[in-house]
Amino acid sequence: MAGIVNKNEIYTGQVIDFTHEGHGVVKFDRYPIFVPNAIKDETIEFKVIKVKKQFAIGKLITIKEASENRVEAPCEYYNVCGGCQLQHLGYSAQLEMKKEQVVNLFKRKSNFEDTIIHNTIGMENPWQYRNKSQIPVGRNREGEIELGFYRQRSHDIVNIDHCMIQDEKHDQIMIKLKALLEQINISVYNEQKHKGELRHIILRSGYYTGETMIIFVTNSKQLSHKNKIIEYITAEFDNVVSIKHNINLEKSNVIMGNTSHTLYGEETITDKLSEYQFKISDTSFYQINPVQTEKLYRKALEYAQLDGEETVIDAYCGIGTIGSYMSQQAKHVYGVEVVEQAIENAKENAEINHIDNATWEAGKAEEVILKWQKEGIKPEVVMVDPPRKGCDQTFIETLIELSPKRIVYISCNPATQVRDVEILKRSGYQLKEITPVDMFPHTTHVETVALIEKTNN
Ligand SMILES: C[S@@+](CC[C@H](N)C(=O)[O-])C[C@H]1O[C@@H](n2cnc3c(N)ncnc32)[C@H](O)[C@@H]1O
Repeated sequence: MAGIVNKNEIYTGQVIDFTHEGHGVVKFDRYPIFVPNAIKDETIEFKVIKVKKQFAIGKLITIKEASENRVEAPCEYYNVCGGCQLQHLGYSAQLEMKKEQVVNLFKRKSNFEDTIIHNTIGMENPWQYRNKSQIPVGRNREGEIELGFYRQRSHDIVNIDHCMIQDEKHDQIMIKLKALLEQINISVYNEQKHKGELRHIILRSGYYTGETMIIFVTNSKQLSHKNKIIEYITAEFDNVVSIKHNINLEKSNVIMGNTSHTLYGEETITDKLSEYQFKISDTSFYQINPVQTEKLYRKALEYAQLDGEETVIDAYCGIGTIGSYMSQQAKHVYGVEVVEQAIENAKENAEINHIDNATWEAGKAEEVILKWQKEGIKPEVVMVDPPRKGCDQTFIETLIELSPKRIVYISCNPATQVRDVEILKRSGYQLKEITPVDMFPHTTHVETVALIEKTNN
């Protein structure tokens, strides 16, 4: 197909679709050209900047006919920061696009013709939703401190003072910490040389409690100027209940290391979801959009169709949030999670929430589920919410042997979800419904919750 377009030449075309990265797709014959920032149904002029055998990449030059869904991106950093990809697309069109991606995966690329795919559940106010900000620290050419987010597909820091999708409190903390770090002349980490001290600052806040945890991640065993930092933060911010130091000596992209110390205050912050309170440690997973999390969990609970008699497994349970929701309507909940601190949180959370029909176990889901099978635990409902890579294959095999009547599968990566559900389909399960829930407005991330039921044959 090469030869259809030439590098550096300018073309006019009609955008007919979106990629999963939110880029517009123009096709000449059947050859696709992906154009960032172009919107479906627009007529655009673009310059071809890369030509490959299967596809080309274009750069948007002019919009000849704009889509009615095009909006002015409100964030001043939008064109340089890689945090958001869809601010130029109206919010209702974003929700449609996310549903379309799920339809594409499950109906066009796979054979789930009978599955009902619902509209994406969106947010009323899709801004300032992130309760966690992972902020890389660097210095610019002039040697000034930079705090911000990475440019798309790079590790160059875009120095920012506010972010429209993060908790508003985090903006203030970023601005003040930048001034403090400049004043104490902190050593910052240089990724290429693997030298220097401060790598990241992580801010985590409880949406309903307003409590904040600040984590300093360093490439050193000590955090320099520790006392000054604590003194400054405690004087400036009433809501900061915990300051932590995390040590990450590895030359890798993983943000946090395995060792953390509490420098000030509590071990955890607390947040609330519905009537439940949850304690959250620095290394424990907690959904980043609490408003949407409640909607996601309510949908999962609806799909679970519990009547109080069921044994439920909550696999990949984090700090026990979904399991806690399920516990009120189940006989017993068994939760498994690989991060030990998260399981400690889950146990404490069960106590705080007066949940006495749940068992929490630290370990790999694929190993612990096998152990539970040997112990004779027979779940009627299994809840799974794995990381982006999806479920482990041994886990799925054991799940099939356990033969629950219902599986509720939450996924932050529908591409691996479809792979896993296909295995279940071949083993006597039917994918009944999927609901996308917009956990990450203005980004291309898609979250889904699926109801999978055992068929009678
Ligand atoms: C998407 S999170 C979901 C957590 C939880 N269900 C929630 O809603 O907060 C996935 C979780 O799986 C955990 N995890 C990753 N691999 C695992 C494994 N092999 N076995 C058990 N848990 C694992 C992660 O630590 C993380 O807490």
